[in-house]
Amino acid sequence: MPVRSILAGVGGYLPARIVTNAELATRLETSDAWIRDRTGIRQRHIAAAHETCAFMATAAARAALARAGAEPGEVDAILLATSTPDQAFPATALRVQAALGVPGGFGFDLSAACAGFVYALSVADGMIRSGQVRGVLVIGAEVYSRIMNWQDRGTCVLFGDGAGAVFLRAGEGRGSIDRGVLSTHLHAQGTLGDILYVDGAVGQPDKPGTLVMNGREVFRHAVVRLAEAVDEALAANALTRRDVDWLVPHQANLRIIDAMGKRLGLPAERVVVTVDRHANTSAASVPLALAEAVGDGRIRAGDLVLLEALGGGLTWGSALVRM
Ligand code: COA
Repeated sequence: MPVRSILAGVGGYLPARIVTNAELATRLETSDAWIRDRTGIRQRHIAAAHETCAFMATAAARAALARAGAEPGEVDAILLATSTPDQAFPATALRVQAALGVPGGFGFDLSAACAGFVYALSVADGMIRSGQVRGVLVIGAEVYSRIMNWQDRGTCVLFGDGAGAVFLRAGEGRGSIDRGVLSTHLHAQGTLGDILYVDGAVGQPDKPGTLVMNGREVFRHAVVRLAEAVDEALAANALTRRDVDWLVPHQANLRIIDAMGKRLGLPAERVVVTVDRHANTSAASVPLALAEAVGDGRIRAGDLVLLEALGGGLTWGSALVRM
């Protein structure tokens, strides 16, 4: 039997502090009605000083390991998708390794903006299939509140902080009925780098950087690219829309999420939505949504789940998973 990556456990972490649209409206020229109508967002979680990327990633990873019944010694690799690491180096993945007491293996951070978790899942899946590793923590963790321009109402109302993680364990499987990651597909178009980016980094003189976005352009590309990604994932597995039990999309905007659900012909209750409460947590959004729906018993063993995400780069991709 071929080796396959089983999603053995999933977990999430959200900062305690909730910032509502009404609170934002006290310091910005915006309103709850505008934000809700355009995005579906009602609130977001914002990290306190101690809630760094590593702190939140560790909490999410710990929850994923607990759900999988896995010990730190089972972790051969940690792949952490983030655009907001604690430090340029060491990789935040290695801060997590230390905090969890993982005795060996390796780890690294991966930068693909909001598509980061799907990218990391794809890399981890490849490593498991090749036999290089047997247990991998795949984490998305972000503190976008620290790269927001809090004067720019066009962006700062859209994002929040948090972390999500899955523990992948090597198993065996064949076809689309057996458990595990069935396929992943990644894409990028660097020529569209200027429609969503951070205008600085530690390598730039005196410029830590804040997020800049052309919302309309991102919206336009998201709808087209994600629709293609959904079709590509199904075609690669000789499956149809009717086979999909759950869509767990990147949580950027309810209008984009609704469009994807309609494209798959899924009733709204089969589309996992957290954007109303979490806003866009970038690389953390897909694993956080997955953690919520697995945690409350909606997504069950045997369900076919389609994950998709798009972010700055542009980067986008999908993963089809039998839970
Ligand atoms: N509150 C009130 N008004 C706001 C506002 C806010 N928070 N943000 C922008 N506006 C105003 C604009 O200034 C503009 O005013 P004007 O017409 O007087 O110039 C008006 O609302 C329309 O702005 P526009 O940017 O064209 O709105 P939109 O309909 O495109 O909606 C987004 C904006 C950001 C909600 C939408 O483009 C979007 O969701 N894009 C995708 C973003 C995304 O998903 N990014 C992450 C991808 S990983």
